[in-house]
Amino acid sequence: MDGETKITPWEVTTTTGIDYLKLIREFGCEPIDGKLVRRFERVTRMKAHPWLRRGIFFSHKDLNLALDAYERGEEIYLYTGRGPSSESLHLGHMVPFMFTKYLQDAFDAVVIIQMTDDEKYYFKEKLTLDEANRLAKENAKDIIACGFTLEKTWIFSNLETVGGSLYRTIVQVMRQTSGNLIKGIYGLDLNNSIGQLSWPCFQAAPAFSTAFSNVFGDQHVQCLVPMAIDQYPYFRMARQIAEKLGYKKPATIQSRFLPSLEQVHDKASSTGSKEVIFMNDSHDAVSRKIREKAFSGGGLTRQEHVEKGANLTVDVPYHYLLYFLDNDNELRDIAREYGSGRMMTSEIKKKTIEVVWNVVREHQEARRLVTSEIVQQYMDPNRSFDHSRRHREIGELSEEDQHLGFHFDPYFRHVP
Ligand code: TRP
Repeated sequence: MDGETKITPWEVTTTTGIDYLKLIREFGCEPIDGKLVRRFERVTRMKAHPWLRRGIFFSHKDLNLALDAYERGEEIYLYTGRGPSSESLHLGHMVPFMFTKYLQDAFDAVVIIQMTDDEKYYFKEKLTLDEANRLAKENAKDIIACGFTLEKTWIFSNLETVGGSLYRTIVQVMRQTSGNLIKGIYGLDLNNSIGQLSWPCFQAAPAFSTAFSNVFGDQHVQCLVPMAIDQYPYFRMARQIAEKLGYKKPATIQSRFLPSLEQVHDKASSTGSKEVIFMNDSHDAVSRKIREKAFSGGGLTRQEHVEKGANLTVDVPYHYLLYFLDNDNELRDIAREYGSGRMMTSEIKKKTIEVVWNVVREHQEARRLVTSEIVQQYMDPNRSFDHSRRHREIGELSEEDQHLGFHFDPYFRHVP
């Protein structure tokens, strides 16, 4: 990237805003277009998730491998993960998990979730092993609250699990990974600890089903990895190594970053100074943060706003609606009214507070039901997993639904 933008799996900083198309080119992955969205709908018989239709999951690599396999009646599995660095997840952390839950339903797929307590121990100076492991289990509650099907989901902590088939696959990956490759892909060097240098092998290996003999026996099952785009380098590496090992290359699907409240072109982060919405925030906190901190693209004065309208491309409340307001018609109306200056900043913020609080409140209700015993059930490796596929009979998609695809312009520039 240029001098002012830095994107690694551990750090995203930018002064100029993230150029996602440039990022795709640099990473060597592909944009998701309307054709692919429609194929997804045809093959899975599920209406595309708003995040697919709205360009939030905007990039992929070989998604067709997963669709092909599913179309042939073969099993695919989903793999994603979480580095437990904070007590509660924030809204941005939830995006890949909420989407993975949707994909679990779309593909009837087994989901494997890696809790990387080891990674956070290597990369966060002050974190102890015990604390990292404790946070992994706390965070698992937030993840389970997304509604993953117990019989089809395994959540594991690396600290507790590495060994057996997982370690065998890691060892195979390690033998194929030179120090130069690590340096080239991640910018790590000999000043980094061995733990940090070897880390990428631990994140890449679960993209091969051989890592999970408790779930897949010795079957080679096609993997699909949903993630935020900063994690892609691991899977670029996994795909290279797959060739050498004779394993199936993982397919991937990547999202943009949910903006922080202060700036559209920023990534929400729980460790930085940026204001973000945590999933355990109260209604008052959510409402105060959005009212006081959310950057507005509205006019500075009422008169200016009425004359020129709002700049949707930099407006944070509008971006949060793009993520969390499912109703396309309502979103389109807001874009038109606010964009033209007929709707005021205070009104869109009010709407955003309502929509975001709804997501947070529903999450809190679901999470309250997740006890430590339930976490243990999800983390139990010694049980049978459900590989069955439901027969899904979903009516033809409506004209309108089919039309959204990639033609959906999030800024509604064509709306008068
Ligand atoms: N490294 C990721 C994080 O810090 C966690 C992770 C592990 C992950 N395996 C993954 C993310 C696979 C996406 C896909 O949050």
